[in-house]
Amino acid sequence: MGKIVLLDDLTINQIAAGEVIERPLSVVKELVENSIDAGATNIQIEVKNGGKTFIKVTDNGKGIVKNDLEISFERHATSKIRRIEDLEKIASMGFRGEALASIASISKVTMTSKTENENIGYKIINIAGKTDQIEEIAMQNGTSIIVEELFFNTPVRYKFLKQDSTEFKYIKEWIQKEALVNSNISFKLFNCR
Ligand SMILES: Nc1ncnc2c1ncn2[C@@H]1O[C@H](COP(=O)(O)OP(=O)(O)OP(=O)(O)O)[C@@H](O)[C@H]1O
Ligand SMILES: [Mg+2]
Repeated sequence: MGKIVLLDDLTINQIAAGEVIERPLSVVKELVENSIDAGATNIQIEVKNGGKTFIKVTDNGKGIVKNDLEISFERHATSKIRRIEDLEKIASMGFRGEALASIASISKVTMTSKTENENIGYKIINIAGKTDQIEEIAMQNGTSIIVEELFFNTPVRYKFLKQDSTEFKYIKEWIQKEALVNSNISFKLFNCR
């Protein structure tokens, strides 16, 4: 019997997450960049415990249609490119289709979204890469993503995080820079209890 096996999807995503998601700031960056790519003019970021237990990013961007909610968590799932040539003229911050799959493999994600063409919004929960049924939810146009218990299933990664106040400082400093670069977007950051 040979010793080589193909890794399962969750393990593949958790390994990929090791490269993309180092700390709460990495999650904030990926979510905020998605909001910017969605054309948001208002982006609100709420964190608890330096982002270790809770990160919520809410935007007023174009939203995700119901049929795309589940696939958005798949690896290599993106609306931003179709083929390699598109990279030559790419205008978006993301294009790999990796961020949500990576984040969802190492945390508990709740995503709600509504587009202007839909009368109602939709909510989907993804825990360690497994999605639940989609539910209807009343909300304004845009997307809200909650990431809870980061690294809950990869404790070794969790151990490398710094104090809550230090993790929050990393987030605050990055948001301040991002707000300066994007003067057309209103950013609000809340350090919640
Ligand atoms: N806030 C958002 N508003 C609207 N669409 C979103 C939002 N966040 C994610 N999406 C959709 O989900 C898809 C997957 O997001 P994800 O961040 O995983 O990949 P990406 O942004 O395409 O590439 P990258 O991995 O480089 O960030 C996006 O291509 C986009 O279509
Ligand atoms: Mg992205």
